[in-house]
Amino acid sequence: MYRLCRPVKLSFYFMFFGLCVVTVVKLIIINQADTVRKRPIENDFVHPIEVGTSPTLVSTHLRTVGPTNVAMTSIQNYSSSFANLTRLNNKDLLEVILDDHLPESNWTNYKLNFSAKNELNYTFLITGEEICMKDDPYLLIIIPSEFGEVSRRDLLRKTWLRAATTNSWPKREIQNKIKFMFLFGTHSNVASEELKSLTKESILNNDIVMADFEDTYRNLTVKILVGLKWTIKYCSKVTYVLKCDMDTFINVPLMMEFLHYVQNNRSSDNFLIGLRHGYDKPPVVRDVHRWKVTETEYPLAYYPRYMYGHTYLLGRGSLDVLIAAAGSKPLIAPEDAFITGILPKLGGVLRLNAACFTMCCRQIFDCEVVWNKNVAITEIKNNERLERLWSNIAFNQCNNTISITEQT
Ligand SMILES: *[C@@H]1O[C@H](CO)[C@@H](O)[C@H](O)[C@H]1NC(C)=O
Ligand SMILES: *[C@@H]1O[C@H](CO)[C@@H](O)[C@H](O)[C@H]1NC(C)=O
Ligand SMILES: *[C@@H]1O[C@H](CO)[C@@H](O)[C@H](O)[C@H]1NC(C)=O
Ligand SMILES: *[C@@H]1O[C@H](CO)[C@@H](O)[C@H](O)[C@H]1NC(C)=O
Ligand SMILES: *[C@@H]1O[C@H](CO)[C@@H](O)[C@H](O)[C@H]1NC(C)=O
Ligand SMILES: *[C@@H]1O[C@H](CO)[C@@H](O)[C@H](O)[C@H]1NC(C)=O
Ligand SMILES: *[C@@H]1O[C@H](CO)[C@@H](O)[C@H](O)[C@H]1NC(C)=O
Ligand SMILES: *[C@@H]1O[C@H](CO)[C@@H](O)[C@H](O)[C@H]1NC(C)=O
Repeated sequence: MYRLCRPVKLSFYFMFFGLCVVTVVKLIIINQADTVRKRPIENDFVHPIEVGTSPTLVSTHLRTVGPTNVAMTSIQNYSSSFANLTRLNNKDLLEVILDDHLPESNWTNYKLNFSAKNELNYTFLITGEEICMKDDPYLLIIIPSEFGEVSRRDLLRKTWLRAATTNSWPKREIQNKIKFMFLFGTHSNVASEELKSLTKESILNNDIVMADFEDTYRNLTVKILVGLKWTIKYCSKVTYVLKCDMDTFINVPLMMEFLHYVQNNRSSDNFLIGLRHGYDKPPVVRDVHRWKVTETEYPLAYYPRYMYGHTYLLGRGSLDVLIAAAGSKPLIAPEDAFITGILPKLGGVLRLNAACFTMCCRQIFDCEVVWNKNVAITEIKNNERLERLWSNIAFNQCNNTISITEQT
């Protein structure tokens, strides 16, 4: 259907972006006096194999590098933009993920000898049952959120999430129905205040779901599982589910092109797609509290290969399988490893790596967003940047401006 291999174009992209990356990296190094530990810069065209760092808490600020370079192009044609996704390497868009780093006998030991019973039947304090009521969406977007992120939620509703509420995108129509929900748990001390305020927000926007589990970072796994259970109950006829974070930006029409490609490419919808985590052998962290997992929860030294947690996609057929698998294993805190690695492997859900799905571990040019280089980008933590990206898309223009990601 699509021409995926364009060696000539690709080599042009390679040279162009290679040059850009090298120049910008140099400029960053020159500009940064206080040398914080930098996240590795991903080669623009090669999937990173060994990133070598654990996920870190980061904050983003902006800096303009070099002369501005405003590019004005004609109205976007997303069939042709889709060709820009293939720039990552001259490989297939979807690559089946295998676990040749994990001895079969070790996995069997975990599979047979480790068990738990998780009911996961939390009560929905705000059911959001009307979200999917009128039409069955093609795509449901689940965004875990927190009470205090009111202004970010409003900004998301005004920017890329408008694709769902208006079925359109700057200079584009969106043909498929899209719905989204912000997902919440609760805290004992502020629960009633939260509930009141979120109920108001829910009446206004019809995009809130809240359940009565304790909403902590170490319970993120529970939060996502609750979101999947909600989907099975209240949005059962959905075709695809996308989990993304509050700082993720989705190029929605491009995502639709990607989903159509996936739909044509796959005979079953029992799969999970994302950008494969850079670790070749994803290590289990035993000592750092945030990701700590004990040997009684998960005994092996490595996880199955899994996706970056900020953006991943689930076929409808995988939901029941994942929930069933989650019911019988100790729940561990690292959401990405558990939901996109362990559960699919346990339940027999195909994991697919899509290099174009999102970006990892390097600065992102505004122009890369406007030029349709990825279906999703992440770490857009700064509201002005989100606004600027959106207006760039609206006016189809961009600056040679990058965001510099630093450790806090
Ligand atoms: C969009 O681009 C594709 C591939 O380059 C081309 O076949 C198609 O005719 C274009 N459509 C429009 C409306 O320009
Ligand atoms: C399960 O654990 C027992 C006791 O530790 C061990 O003997 C057995 O080999 C394990 N089963 C598998 C499939 O590894
Ligand atoms: C969860 O479901 C089980 C059985 O289906 C029931 O016994 C239990 O009370 C339920 N828990 C909650 C909190 O509703
Ligand atoms: C996760 O939520 C459940 C249900 O509210 C709670 O019992 C548990 O303590 C929470 N766990 C963590 C680590 O916050
Ligand atoms: C699906 O895509 C893969 C490459 O990503 C390709 O090898 C395969 O032939 C495609 N299958 C179909 C049915 O299009
Ligand atoms: C597999 O199990 C063996 C024996 O228990 C252990 O020595 C080895 O470290 C395990 N490997 C992994 C990857 O967990
Ligand atoms: C594809 O990327 C190139 C730069 O590599 C850019 O000039 C072009 O506008 C992009 N095409 C679309 C349709 O986004
Ligand atoms: C590009 O940068 C210039 C100077 O900083 C600014 O005036 C302009 O609005 C920017 N354009 C975009 C599209 O961000």
